[in-house]
Amino acid sequence: MMIDRLKKIENEAVRALQNARDEETLNQLKIKYLGRKGLITNIFRELGKLPAGQRPEVGRVANEIKTLVSKELNSALKRISREKEREAQPQLDITLPGRRPVIGTLHPISQVIDEVCGIFSELGFEIVEGPEVELDYYNFEALNIPKEHPARDMQDTFYISDNVVLRTHTSPIQIRVMEKQQPPVRMVAPGKAYRCDSDISHTPMFHQVEGLMVGEDISFSHLKGILTIFVHHMFGEDILLRFRPSFFPFTEPSAEVDILCVICHGRGCRVCSHTGWLEVIGCGMVHPEVFRVVGYDPEAVTGLAFGMGIERIAMLKFGIEDIRMFFQNNIRFLKQFF
Ligand code: DAH
Repeated sequence: MMIDRLKKIENEAVRALQNARDEETLNQLKIKYLGRKGLITNIFRELGKLPAGQRPEVGRVANEIKTLVSKELNSALKRISREKEREAQPQLDITLPGRRPVIGTLHPISQVIDEVCGIFSELGFEIVEGPEVELDYYNFEALNIPKEHPARDMQDTFYISDNVVLRTHTSPIQIRVMEKQQPPVRMVAPGKAYRCDSDISHTPMFHQVEGLMVGEDISFSHLKGILTIFVHHMFGEDILLRFRPSFFPFTEPSAEVDILCVICHGRGCRVCSHTGWLEVIGCGMVHPEVFRVVGYDPEAVTGLAFGMGIERIAMLKFGIEDIRMFFQNNIRFLKQFF
């Protein structure tokens, strides 16, 4: 009888404790079962009224149940305080859409460099690079630029020391490649160049792509053909170009490539200084003196060379009037070239 009552109390207590959701309910349950007038406490009080033979057994079971209910009470307390903690934390809304990371894009100058190199690469040109801090020898001397040449003037060249400069063009890469490699050579070299100059169309740091092709029968027609293909790929098949005689110490003959102004189509505007033409590439046939310096036989090989300013090409392609826009890192400007 008594044992049945105890079992019933146990079942009820355990179920109630497990279902409890707050500390208040737990306290009430504690009082109900284990308090001074609690259901389990009462059993102990009633022990004396039982026949002597039943007392030890009922006492033992009552003790067991008391321990069990105390344990249940403790774990319910822990559970409830854990639940409280969890509720206090900000709730994570897993239905919210994810936040997309901002993905960067190539700088317009890098895009144009890639495009230029891509065109020459399809024509079989290898892409090479060279140092930006360069020896006077490679930047000037080996390119047949004598000591008194105006390009060496302090106001153009950044000197690191007497014989070390920031390269003023990418042409020294021609020398470095020919020193290491026997003909035939077919290379383009993109990179930064530096000149002490700054206005709407000049920045102290700018980019060039250099080209060089050396072999047994390379002629001026090859130069014209290659640069015509290039201009047509870069600016469109309908773009007119002309080769105008010019001078560079490292080429003979030398020329500059003009394209019909992409802004006014030859009518004359501010961008082309009302000439209708835009100068985009310097070029020529490699000077025999340059071949001699790198140990090539000028009687056995000929070569064509060219160099172009990337910012200038980018300005024409994108219709940008101030070169400095490229280097101000204004994200709203750069975003237009996604
Ligand atoms: N290095 C020249 C410059 O910076 C550009 C140039 C002209 C490069 C003629 C060449 C060339 O390779 O043949 O103005």
